[in-house]
Amino acid sequence: PETGCLSIIVLGASGDLAKKKTFPALFNLYRQGFLQESEVHIFGYARTQISDDDLRKRIRGYLEKDGSSGISEDLPKFLNLIKYVSGSYDSEEGFQLLDKEISEHEVSKNTAEGSSRRLFYLALPPSVYPPVCRMIRQCCMNKSDLGGWTRIVVEKPFGKDLESSEKLSSQIGELFEEPQIYRIDHYLGKELVQNMLVLRYANRFFLPLWNRDNIDNVQIVFREDFGTEGRGGYFDEYGIIRDIIQNHLLQVLCLVAMEKPILLKPEHIRDAKVKVLQSVLPIKDEEVVLGQHEGYRDDPTVPDTSNTPTFATIILRIHNERWEGVPFILKAGKALNSRKAEIRVQFKDVPGDIFKCKKHGRNEFVIRLQPSEAIYMKLTVKQPGLEMSTVQSELDLSYRQRYQDAVIPEAYERLILDTIRGDQQHFVRRDELKAAWEIFTPLLHRIDNGEMKPIPYKPGSRGPAEADQLLESAGYVQTHGY
Ligand code: BG6
Repeated sequence: PETGCLSIIVLGASGDLAKKKTFPALFNLYRQGFLQESEVHIFGYARTQISDDDLRKRIRGYLEKDGSSGISEDLPKFLNLIKYVSGSYDSEEGFQLLDKEISEHEVSKNTAEGSSRRLFYLALPPSVYPPVCRMIRQCCMNKSDLGGWTRIVVEKPFGKDLESSEKLSSQIGELFEEPQIYRIDHYLGKELVQNMLVLRYANRFFLPLWNRDNIDNVQIVFREDFGTEGRGGYFDEYGIIRDIIQNHLLQVLCLVAMEKPILLKPEHIRDAKVKVLQSVLPIKDEEVVLGQHEGYRDDPTVPDTSNTPTFATIILRIHNERWEGVPFILKAGKALNSRKAEIRVQFKDVPGDIFKCKKHGRNEFVIRLQPSEAIYMKLTVKQPGLEMSTVQSELDLSYRQRYQDAVIPEAYERLILDTIRGDQQHFVRRDELKAAWEIFTPLLHRIDNGEMKPIPYKPGSRGPAEADQLLESAGYVQTHGY
């Protein structure tokens, strides 16, 4: 690992994302010894005029409320590493001041042995990415003669459609090289998402089965049992497809469907992901069900006439040798009956079914991303006893039971550590982003133009019944709950 001083600059430091995700992740990295006091300084930057102490109090307040154990000892030391600089997002003055502060920190640390590293985390709305990137480029790049780097971390929404996303990409691309840009999709930082390639390529079981000859359909599901909770204004502009499906679920699909990368190198993995995205066929209207939960428009920040879906089931079809004919069902919804994210791979029926096991439902391989991470297989076994009857049961790897002492890191923690280490494997490359927008843009435009309307559904329900009918028509067979 590189040594030398490390400056982490959180832009938008007084905002919600910084408070809820960025600073807690940094704190956890600090507690585990990944951020060394002798090297690291954290700078908060935002427009609000507050003092270092005000920012520290804010962060302390959130972390204490969040309440992980052991907080008390480490917290003051961590907070001491944080400094605040205020300035606007497009003024040289503010960024020059920021640069001065960073440089002072670099001088104060012994950098003779190592390089100076500057990590800019943009916890900001994308509308200010271009001016902020320009200012960083102009005023705040690493100037050390001893090497080092400057990296920026950005987060979705990267545009609203293909055109706006490409525009944003070129604006940032004129200022930074691709290896300096880390586009976060926090689903790629989840433990079981990171496990996907291991499962597929380190287990002989799956290798011969992972194809259209054996798999009937794949479902990637995201449900939340709460609505937009004060984010109605943001959400209404984007909707569930841009908020969850085009990024989080599509990234998961890539890992389920991609071909084996040549090596476990970020570029090889991302090449394989781009290929699978480019093989996705245009979405058919009849393979889409949209929903909007009742009460969504009661939010004062949501227009009364809003056409924005809070639920969608969409079938994607991959046109290649491995997957021709296998529906990939992406389903996401807010204000549903449960909170869950999972991948369900459903196998075809057994030919020559002498045990009549079809009645139980099919073999299914399930990866539960959250809550309570688990991997399980549904299979038919003999019902214990004197009778020769069959029952469906599970081979179950529940992480809580199997790995009782393991601490599963938060997605952001892992991803920020990757940015420091310079590992782009779990970040979205520009061409990958483009391919993802290419898939959804025509559908999104039809929804935006009011050509497709969401079906109302009751909060706390499974979503519109039409979505279950679509699943059934795609060949999905409901297995018994587990
Ligand atoms: C975010 C979305 O990207 O992911 C939110 O903007 C959503 O709407 C969240 O609630 C879900 O993340 P997680 O990790 O709780 O599944």
